Amino acid sequence: LDNGLSRTPPMGWIDWERFRCNVDCNNDPNNCIGEKLFRDMIDRIAADGYKDVGYEYVNLDDCWMSHERDENNRLTANSTRFPNGIKSLADYAHSKGLKLGIYEDYGLLTCAGYPGSLNYMDIDAQTFADWGIDYLKFDGCYSLPWTMNKGYPEMTRALNKTGRPIVFSCEWPFHQQKASIKPNYKLIRKNCNSWRNFKDVQDSWDSVMKIIDFYTKEQDTLIAAAGPGGWNDPDMLIIGDFGLSYDQSKSQMAMWSIFAAPLMMSTDLRTISDEAKEILLNKEVIAVDQDALGKMGRRVISRGSVDVWSRPLVNGSYAVVFFNKGSDGGPSNVTVTLEEIGFTTTVQKYALRDLFLHRFLGNYDVRGTFETSINPTGVVMVTASPVKINKYRTTNFWFHC
Ligand code: GLA
Repeated sequence: LDNGLSRTPPMGWIDWERFRCNVDCNNDPNNCIGEKLFRDMIDRIAADGYKDVGYEYVNLDDCWMSHERDENNRLTANSTRFPNGIKSLADYAHSKGLKLGIYEDYGLLTCAGYPGSLNYMDIDAQTFADWGIDYLKFDGCYSLPWTMNKGYPEMTRALNKTGRPIVFSCEWPFHQQKASIKPNYKLIRKNCNSWRNFKDVQDSWDSVMKIIDFYTKEQDTLIAAAGPGGWNDPDMLIIGDFGLSYDQSKSQMAMWSIFAAPLMMSTDLRTISDEAKEILLNKEVIAVDQDALGKMGRRVISRGSVDVWSRPLVNGSYAVVFFNKGSDGGPSNVTVTLEEIGFTTTVQKYALRDLFLHRFLGNYDVRGTFETSINPTGVVMVTASPVKINKYRTTNFWFHC
């Protein structure tokens, strides 16, 4: 969507995968979908380094609403759980240099059964703008997927009409695919800043693997669909939760970044481990995700249990992920030439850097080999930058004499 927003994939936090539709603020005041949870996360993102590396949007998912619209048909937040309303939460996020996102649904009801936007798109868009909302996740439950090509653009128009810059995140292709309708990615990209194309992520490696498999299978379509202003969304990062090992957490971070995906954390930042936090704050991996060229990576080699993914970056550099899908053996070794990965051979040498070890690995000839060892369900992630050979060095030397 050409609204000037999300020129690189959006980054932030969203409650759903970790906190679900927990509305029991009486018994569980720290973890229920209510004001405190979001204020806590805004505080952590602002104070613990997340904001400094680019995490910016703090998003409410489903279950923030009251079940009834007000007398003017406007949505209202549940007043017990959000006693000060959404505007005050947005003001609070803004006061910390962050942004606030919200969730609604294209259909009659949200997936959890709260009022949807069907027949109320203009009113809802204006309500969100009045509250100071910066991001809208627009789901597709309780709707007719074959009406989406007409219906989702209605919300794009309604948001645009408010004059407020609001990132528009759609579940349009996912709900169409479920109904065996082939998504029209040209149209989707024209109307959305990001779009979910596969099932919800759950807190398990199995779930993350299914998403990666889908992205692998569909890579030609997905690579063509995305770019600055519009991104494929493989769903939330579950790093810091209960389902992923240390290696698997690095794998999710690496793969989401090679996909040029939104990096939306869904974890409890009040209790996160140092290990998980370090992965989420890895600036070198984030820089790949946020690369200005905005090109989604491609799987270029599949050898045994190892897949090699490569993504072109600005200035003739590349990011490469060596991903070991195997889970029942020890580490796997691969040996590849850079030419095989698809690097342009007009450049003779590339400087390789490991993004998790934060270490320069050496200059490699484009036709020479690179060997690495990858842990089961883990990754090795590198960037490769062209080495500039100074042709005039000898000449300069004689001049100085
Ligand atoms: C759908 C979406 C999820 C989440 C829930 C909320 O399942 O895909 O990401 O928003 O609805 O009910």
